[in-house]
Amino acid sequence: SMINHSMKTVGIIVPNLVNPFFSTFLRGIQSAMYESECVPIILSADHNETLERYYLKTFIERGVDGVIIAGSAIENKGIKDLLQPIHISYLLFDQADPISGGDQIIVNDEHGGELATSHLIHAGHRKIAVVIPEQPSQNVKLRLAGYRHTLEQNQISFDPKLIFPTGLSKMGGRQIAADIIKSKATAVFSTNDEMAIGLIRGLQEADVRVPEDVSVVGYDDIDLDDYVTPRLTTIHQPIYDMGVWACQMIMSRLSTPELSPQLKMVDVSLKERNSVKRL
Ligand code: RIB
Repeated sequence: SMINHSMKTVGIIVPNLVNPFFSTFLRGIQSAMYESECVPIILSADHNETLERYYLKTFIERGVDGVIIAGSAIENKGIKDLLQPIHISYLLFDQADPISGGDQIIVNDEHGGELATSHLIHAGHRKIAVVIPEQPSQNVKLRLAGYRHTLEQNQISFDPKLIFPTGLSKMGGRQIAADIIKSKATAVFSTNDEMAIGLIRGLQEADVRVPEDVSVVGYDDIDLDDYVTPRLTTIHQPIYDMGVWACQMIMSRLSTPELSPQLKMVDVSLKERNSVKRL
């Protein structure tokens, strides 16, 4: 028949496809899955829990072999309750809460927050704002925790008024620029690059120069960072490789179901470009 029964299918749920973080992650997954004769079915759920549950149900009904869930609105326990009883292999990604029983890739996001903040402190900044999404996921909360305790370790008191929640998008970053300017912060740690790039645009529209007047550090190291002015200093995540690892882990789970839970810890690093000024 035309049907190739050895070919596996893996359902993948990501929060969105606009953020280049997820397109690069999916490129890594796709190329590794092609090598393993596996077909990814990719859906984006916009952090909408109802939609995610519906997609997961659909994956189950269609009989996928495994599921990769990135940045889900459903908490880890809910995913486990849904997938474990029916013996579907799954891998969680960007869900820093390690209670899963399934396989998991965890990024050292707290370290990322520390690296971003200490880079700004070493450049002489003391009034450092932080931009976070309105509904921060667990990984973003850890970036914020890293920011907070790095300030405290450097005898800079943590000021909740310097936390700026906004939409998790370029537009969100652009819209928060006015509040950042009012705060008189000399530097900003934006917990993802898309918001950082929008923020730079918003600051420039208000005639605030980056980095001469305000320094900005992002998080992710998406491909756009090299194409904005100034080029964005950020926290590097090995995004493409993370996609490859996600594929490898789910494939080894499918070939060896009795494997004990696999946990991959990923470290991050500072990528210096041109968006930070030394005071
Ligand atoms: O979904 C928000 C963020 O989580 C992305 O920008 C990336 O940082 C991911 O880890």
